[in-house]
Amino acid sequence: MKASILLSIVCAAASAVPAPSFHARNAHPHAASAIPDYPGIQFGANGKLDITVFSDLHFGEPSNERKDSLTTGVMNSVLDNEHSDLVVLNGDLISCEYVGPDQFNGIIDQVVSPLVYRNLPFAATFGNHDYSETCSTRSMASHMWWDIKGTNGKKLSFTTQSVEGPVEEIGWSNYFIPVYSSTDGSKLEMLLWFFDSKGGRVYQPGANQNRPTTSYVDKRVVTWFQNARDEFNKRHGRVIPSLAFVHIPVQATRAFQKSGKRGEFTQPGIDDEIVGHQDDCPGTDCYHGGDEVFMKALVETQGLISVFSGHDHGVDWCMKWSDDLPTKPTNGNGIHFCFNRHSGYGGYSNWKRGARKILVEESKLGNKEIDTWTRLEDGSISGRVTLNSTYGSDNYPKVDRLESWGW
Ligand SMILES: *[C@@H]1O[C@H](CO)[C@@H](O)[C@H](O)[C@H]1NC(C)=O
Repeated sequence: MKASILLSIVCAAASAVPAPSFHARNAHPHAASAIPDYPGIQFGANGKLDITVFSDLHFGEPSNERKDSLTTGVMNSVLDNEHSDLVVLNGDLISCEYVGPDQFNGIIDQVVSPLVYRNLPFAATFGNHDYSETCSTRSMASHMWWDIKGTNGKKLSFTTQSVEGPVEEIGWSNYFIPVYSSTDGSKLEMLLWFFDSKGGRVYQPGANQNRPTTSYVDKRVVTWFQNARDEFNKRHGRVIPSLAFVHIPVQATRAFQKSGKRGEFTQPGIDDEIVGHQDDCPGTDCYHGGDEVFMKALVETQGLISVFSGHDHGVDWCMKWSDDLPTKPTNGNGIHFCFNRHSGYGGYSNWKRGARKILVEESKLGNKEIDTWTRLEDGSISGRVTLNSTYGSDNYPKVDRLESWGW
């Protein structure tokens, strides 16, 4: 995308910023800097930011209207049981391998209808199933940005793209959301980063070539992230705390799982499948370290508390990466990675559906501490933990694996 187009989209969003949860944007645009002037969000008056993450919704599978309505039911149930200031759709919104070029934006409307109904702002990352010959993630993001409005008429989507280059190499959901103080709407308190791990197939309707894309965050995106991050820290004279979202987890999560260091009480959650990760080929051992540059950038980012991923439907624990792991880099800096079990009825297998909840309290940010849990469709809560300096050695109730099946 050309810089001028990007700017005009961004400026147009200014007027779309709903109050009070959306922030009314910086007064000073920084057109020449690494930081686009994206719309933001503000901590609530209670000093909290409550995020609900749906992942692997997998709408649009053939002759499966029933599944789609069940998935909408999951979203409604979670949103009725939990307060949300922001919703993240963390990839695989649609099973695009089944969806025609004239269908995908209609399915996006279906995906976001529970959010539209509640006027909830949302941010999407794209997953490997959102990339197919027939689905354009660029068109989806544009449709979300321009056309999806709440019942109050306000635009709801933050989803955009910050890095120039071919979509099949860069993706179309690399961006950030600035989060401002509850008491001072111009004081930046936190950043939410969104990355596109691609995967799936190159968009080329009618070509019938079935060209796969790489399934990791591109180096150009990593460079953009590092520059923007450094500029934020420099401009504010301090490290800005952050969270990150990317559909496919990094390989360190598989290295951790394989190491046997995960405990039922210390990292509670379901762990019912081998973690598929960035640059992994299902069924074959073909990892070439495609995400090493990204992993290194993540662990070098001071203030980054946790990275949230989906992709693996039957995994929903959180880990702290501080130990040596057989990957590169071998040591984390205490960064956390959390999984999101599947939220949708499409896609594989039948674990109970749920959403990951993240509660950020402004007063605990300096301590790099957040709370997170899974809210299940049946209304129960699973695997509630505090990601703080002792996470990984604190004990929590274990999650009963058998109780997490959907039948
Ligand atoms: C981290 O949170 C857990 C659970 O609330 C708590 O037991 C533990 O003491 C906390 N650790 C620190 C250093 O605050």
